[in-house]
Amino acid sequence: MSTFWSIWITVITLGSIFGCLGLLWMCNKNDTGVKEGESMGHSFDGIEELNNPLPTWWKYLFIFTCIGGFIYFALYPGLGAYKGLLGWTSTNEYQREVSSADDKYAAVFNKLVKTEESNFTEYREITDIAKDPEAVKVGQRLFLQNCSQCHGSDARGAKGFPNLTDNNWLYGGTTTDIKNTIMHGRNGVMPAWLSVLGDKKVDLVTTYVVGLSGRRVNARDEAAGKEIFLQTCAACHGADAKGMTMLGAPNLTDKIWLYGGSRKTIEQTIKYGRNGAMPTWSKILGEDKITLLTGYVYSLNVK
Ligand code: HEC
Ligand code: HEC
Repeated sequence: MSTFWSIWITVITLGSIFGCLGLLWMCNKNDTGVKEGESMGHSFDGIEELNNPLPTWWKYLFIFTCIGGFIYFALYPGLGAYKGLLGWTSTNEYQREVSSADDKYAAVFNKLVKTEESNFTEYREITDIAKDPEAVKVGQRLFLQNCSQCHGSDARGAKGFPNLTDNNWLYGGTTTDIKNTIMHGRNGVMPAWLSVLGDKKVDLVTTYVVGLSGRRVNARDEAAGKEIFLQTCAACHGADAKGMTMLGAPNLTDKIWLYGGSRKTIEQTIKYGRNGAMPTWSKILGEDKITLLTGYVYSLNVK
């Protein structure tokens, strides 16, 4: 925060409290020339206005409130950049709560993901975790908290966010693959081809890709598109177009689409590229929780 805004806020805040005290002081002094408790000299419908002082209890309450305000601003951050005598911050508070919750639940997570025989030092097989109803339930809760905003609360994904229940994987579906994906994140890089290939060639290769999943297309365009595909796209998607999990390049021969399978969307993808990003979780969640999440995701795919 710049010094100017810091001073601005401080002046307005303190000014308001002093303003309140000033108002009290003004209302409290009797400069009407009428003695306390006597008539101000006018009446309406027989109701007379008397020069009564403010009630004492009210006056003191007002003063104590203002003093309370000053004490609060001395102890807590509220005056611009001033940090307060207690050094309280919402971040500290949050971290304290999180770490006390972590302490409480770490033992629970640990018991669920490690083997009893190893005295809870070695990880269980994820395939076993995926069969343990209690571990899966906890994994699901972690998923709802951390993953559902992108992958959906049922893990079925959305445009650009893969479905995690269809046993169809960009980055591989072994327990090791899934755990690696969650631990370290993934970045799918599909380059943009419009400036490289131009409209005509993009059109031909789009025809080829559309034909790959079984739709009828113009055979001559398809053959020309295949040439382009082999030269330009096969390095990542494979000569058979079945994809490459190492790069997260999707299989283009099935009917499962990350970004949509209409001709228009496919052309859009090829022209302008795509850049799907799965965040890294190792630092945020730690390996125990990620192991539970892996078990949960894995369990969604074993039928
Ligand atoms: C900010 C959005 C976002 C969040 C939050 C998120 N993901 Fe993802 N995730 C993605 C995207 C996007 C991809 C696909 C990456 C790509 O296109 O290359 C992905 C990919 C994956 C994959 C690989 C799927 C495959 O087909 O190989 C798994 C597994 C996964 N996420 C699990 C999780 C889990 C578990 C969590 C919660 C800890 C999570 N994700 C949270 C966006 C997200
Ligand atoms: C450098 C590697 C690379 C090359 C070369 C490449 N792609 Fe891709 N492609 C990818 C990756 C990675 C993705 C997934 C992007 C993501 O996860 O966001 C992708 C996604 C796609 C998709 C979207 C699939 C879906 O499920 O929605 C299509 C279609 C596609 N590529 C076609 C092509 C065509 C056609 C070419 C050649 C002109 C090509 N790609 C060249 C890496 C590549």
